[in-house]
Amino acid sequence: MKTRITELFGIQHPIIQGGMHFVGLAELASAVSNAGGLGLITGLTQRTPEDLAAEIARCKTMTDKPFGVNLTFLPSVTPPDYPGYVRAIIDSGVKAVETAGNNPVKWMPMLKEAGIKVIHKCTSVRHALKAESIGCDAISVDGFECGGHPGEDDVPNFILLPRAAEELKIPFVASGGMADARSLVAALAMGADGMNMGTRFMATVEAPIHDNVKQAIVAATELDTRLVMRSLRNTERVMVNAGVDRLIEKEKALGSALKFEDIIGEVAGVYPAVMQKGEMDAGAWSCGMVAGLIHDIPTCKDLIDRIMAEATQIIRGRLEGMLAD
Ligand SMILES: Cc1cc2nc3c(=O)[nH]c(=O)nc-3n(C[C@H](O)[C@H](O)[C@H](O)COP(=O)(O)O)c2cc1C
Repeated sequence: MKTRITELFGIQHPIIQGGMHFVGLAELASAVSNAGGLGLITGLTQRTPEDLAAEIARCKTMTDKPFGVNLTFLPSVTPPDYPGYVRAIIDSGVKAVETAGNNPVKWMPMLKEAGIKVIHKCTSVRHALKAESIGCDAISVDGFECGGHPGEDDVPNFILLPRAAEELKIPFVASGGMADARSLVAALAMGADGMNMGTRFMATVEAPIHDNVKQAIVAATELDTRLVMRSLRNTERVMVNAGVDRLIEKEKALGSALKFEDIIGEVAGVYPAVMQKGEMDAGAWSCGMVAGLIHDIPTCKDLIDRIMAEATQIIRGRLEGMLAD
């Protein structure tokens, strides 16, 4: 399949693996890229710019295909060394960056100068237009279904994607709720040039996370995510568990008086506990509603090959077959 996204990133299939904290390590990024998609290393999971440079170097030993780095700009008490991370990416020769969170305007001149293609992930048409205006090459349009931070507008992809198609000139991929060939074909029909998947790629053989997490995703239904931190305007869609139940109880009890410090026990340090040690009740970890569509743990290659083969069947068989002569 050839789309503006495959052309932009020099990849075989229009499928991107979104940045995921403590999941997007070299094992997963290289597996997705080797399978013909675009794998992404999650920049901030690496504690220092030097660690990120080492992780990129490690990924290069595992694939000779293009891969990228996710750089997330979220509000934080002590901001990470962003200039250092950007420098590490540029010096490594990586040519694709997924930005997310705040507007990446400050970093655009450096990234563009280095010939890096920037795909900005955002949850609204207005933020997508802003990203287009500052020179981003593509957008990852993240609908309300998504795992992670869906923003505060609550617009699902059946509306958000065609709205993005109405307004954007640059290509975009559909993100949030994407799992299989049906997702891909629907996304293309709504004007996207590909799709970005997060949760689906966690339940793969190569995802370097504890098996408990993969099994929890397979066991979960579309009803098993919760939105937390709404009152802090930092909404996150997470997998329900005992830690999340505790967090929600605190949110109910404290209402608008809730402060980040009140829930720090359920959100800070949770990722290493869950992803590395498999402590499933540790607290809030991002997970999409798409868990309800995930029933197996294939290799990234089997997953992507299956999606592309079934997409052809849907387009050539099901859809074309519906057209009257
Ligand atoms: C466990 C997990 C961690 C994530 N961490 C990040 C992150 O650090 N930065 C980011 O931009 N997006 C992050 N995301 C969002 C994904 O990149 C992607 O946009 C999202 O998962 C898409 O929705 P889906 O899960 O329905 O596929 C994370 C998602 C998950 C499931």
